[in-house]
Amino acid sequence: MPELVFLGHASFLLKEEGKESLLFDPFVTGNPTAPLKPEDIKADYILVSHGHADHLGDAYDIAGANDATIISTAEVASQAAEKGLKSHAQHLGGRHSFPFGSVKLTLAFHGAGIPGGHACGFVVDYYGKKIYFAGDTALFGDMKLIGELDKLDLALLPIGDNFTMGIDDAVVAASFLKAKTVIPYHYNTWPVIEADPEEFKKKVEDNTGSKCFVIPPGDSYQL
Ligand code: NI
Ligand code: MN
Repeated sequence: MPELVFLGHASFLLKEEGKESLLFDPFVTGNPTAPLKPEDIKADYILVSHGHADHLGDAYDIAGANDATIISTAEVASQAAEKGLKSHAQHLGGRHSFPFGSVKLTLAFHGAGIPGGHACGFVVDYYGKKIYFAGDTALFGDMKLIGELDKLDLALLPIGDNFTMGIDDAVVAASFLKAKTVIPYHYNTWPVIEADPEEFKKKVEDNTGSKCFVIPPGDSYQL
């Protein structure tokens, strides 16, 4: 059974016994909520949504230590390749198959954090489970399409406001996406993104057909 470990802020590790593991946006160094040290994180693929420091974070160091492949936009992937790392470049709307399933890059309305780039989200097929990781983004109407094109088992959504969607916009996002389960992230790392995940959970479960799980950093969710 796949397991999703929350590594604090916007970082998740998706793993299953004896199979390839996927790490999302590993911001460990300087993250006051990080439950692990970079050297304790093992991954085969590292998905990077954009170049801001709280997402690109320790990605290159962890990739180097694990001989992992960076999957990201062409701009981030080519920066990784210049550093001698394994990388796979994609861009918005494009899907690619991997041994674990597939990765599609989705729109995200947010800064790229790298010249000429674009922020993205991901729809991942992980051994048959469909997971949407929104990255950093505003609410946008085409999230409806994401939920129509891929029947989502799980949607991971930022709720901390200020830099991304806040709680009420993320509840609308959940209503668009129609995932079986929703998990919030990108909150309470710093005072500027303080948000109550239990308020989000209640609003999601009162207003949409999705279940919501709040996982503290270091805890995990079984898909
Ligand atoms: Ni950002
Ligand atoms: Mn961020």
